[in-house]
Amino acid sequence: MTNPAGGLTPGEVHNAEVELERDRDQPIPDRSAHLEAMPNALVIADNLVAGYLPGVNILNGCDLYANRGELVGIIGPNGAGKSTLLKALFGLVRVHEGQVILDGQDITNLKPNRLVSQGVGFVPQNNNVFPSLTIEENLQMGAYQAPKNFAERFDFVASLFPTLADRRKQPAGSLSGGERQMVAMSRALMMDPSVILLDEPSAGLSPVLQDEVFVRTKQINTAGVTVIMVEQNARRCLQICDRGYVLDQGKNAHTGTGADLLNDPKVIQLYLGTLAKA
Ligand SMILES: Nc1ncnc2c1ncn2[C@@H]1O[C@H](COP(=O)(O)OP(=O)(O)O)[C@@H](O)[C@H]1O
Ligand SMILES: [Mg+2]
Repeated sequence: MTNPAGGLTPGEVHNAEVELERDRDQPIPDRSAHLEAMPNALVIADNLVAGYLPGVNILNGCDLYANRGELVGIIGPNGAGKSTLLKALFGLVRVHEGQVILDGQDITNLKPNRLVSQGVGFVPQNNNVFPSLTIEENLQMGAYQAPKNFAERFDFVASLFPTLADRRKQPAGSLSGGERQMVAMSRALMMDPSVILLDEPSAGLSPVLQDEVFVRTKQINTAGVTVIMVEQNARRCLQICDRGYVLDQGKNAHTGTGADLLNDPKVIQLYLGTLAKA
């Protein structure tokens, strides 16, 4: 309702201010940084529209890129579409519009087994090990498309996770949550991926083990693997990542270096205050 002079009532002004403050519903108007970075990126998700059911889109024009060797973090509230984005990259959710590109090749909607052979590793949040199989058997499952390389890849993951090698004959189901996460990451590394997608690797772990997951993730990245990780532990994630994306309601809300996002008052107010535990 407007006043007789055609201006806004105090209530409307207040609402408009609140709306400005809370710009979560607005798409990022400027895609220029994304478009500029795209030609050289290893992984590109360009303007993705994707969802589980016909006519119901969860991702509504989502952009992401990861340069070779980068560690990219994705944070955002529950239900924002973070897992859906990883699943769309990995061929587990139908992409209706937009493109996924890996190393210059269009991989949109390719099946996960094809993506694994093309160098994409995925560690889902839940049920990411076979509990009745031993550690070694879990790793064999990870290498099933290239069993000849097993020994060499086993040595690589053993260099990252020595305790797993020592306990290779132990069933994965008998391991702690943190150790299982290491097995799941190792399994995804068995095919020598150029990029791994991690969905909340620190979820459900004690603070000490969470810390270890972040350290290990950084190590994997330092060993040359590009990493795209979704995390609920937003602050810790932004501390270790090169660049981060804040996803909200299936769209990019903020992007920047990890340090930029950690210091952005809007990101702090809307996304770090309640999410961050570290
Ligand atoms: N298998 C599914 N079928 C239908 N809707 C789903 C499915 N998985 C997730 N969703 C919906 O997609 C939205 C985003 O979920 P998700 O990507 O898991 O969010 P986040 O990982 O950011 O918490 C939610 O509204 C959720 O209910
Ligand atoms: Mg999720």
